[in-house]
Amino acid sequence: MKKLENNLSAGIMALPSFPLVLVTVSHNIMTAGAFHFYSFKPPSVMVGIMPDKYTYELMNEHNEFGINIPRADQIELVRTCGSVSGRQIDKYQKAGVTPFEAVEINSTLIKECPVNIECEVVHKVDFIGTHQWFVGKIKAVHIDDVYARDQALMFWIGEYRKVGKFLEKA
Ligand SMILES: Cc1cc2nc3c(=O)[nH]c(=O)nc-3n(C[C@H](O)[C@H](O)[C@H](O)COP(=O)(O)O)c2cc1C
Repeated sequence: MKKLENNLSAGIMALPSFPLVLVTVSHNIMTAGAFHFYSFKPPSVMVGIMPDKYTYELMNEHNEFGINIPRADQIELVRTCGSVSGRQIDKYQKAGVTPFEAVEINSTLIKECPVNIECEVVHKVDFIGTHQWFVGKIKAVHIDDVYARDQALMFWIGEYRKVGKFLEKA
């Protein structure tokens, strides 16, 4: 039997996990669970950034960003980049990862992440809640030849998870 929830956030809390990414803007790194594919044509993605983050300032200043996909075994990197602000420290140094220059945008990307996606901000969603959503058109992509989607890290409501079991082709 179903009950009508009083808490309107209950439906959001019931969602399954999302892929976790590391957003790079200029020389900063930020962990983001608010991330989704946006369109196949043109290839684009979207990411939600809270206005109190240093990354939010950088996004509005540079209007471009990198999406770096970590593997599930890089959880420590994810924790570090999601717990301290780049206003105070260099997160590349703190997390012990290596920056490399993007080719189509003026930003660093994380060498140790198996996938790096370079994006230009093409839209900022003007219905602002806790997060400001930025739509990014993909300008360049770097992928390790040994990367498989199952290696990615998932997250939602305080829980880190691995990608689930393959069932069947759609
Ligand atoms: C697992 C995890 C997921 C997070 N997801 C987001 C997110 O989607 N959007 C956001 O604005 N902050 C998110 N955060 C918080 C920021 O990563 C964190 O506050 C970070 O220190 C901000 O860095 P900055 O000030 O250098 O931008 C998340 C943190 C963690 C640990």
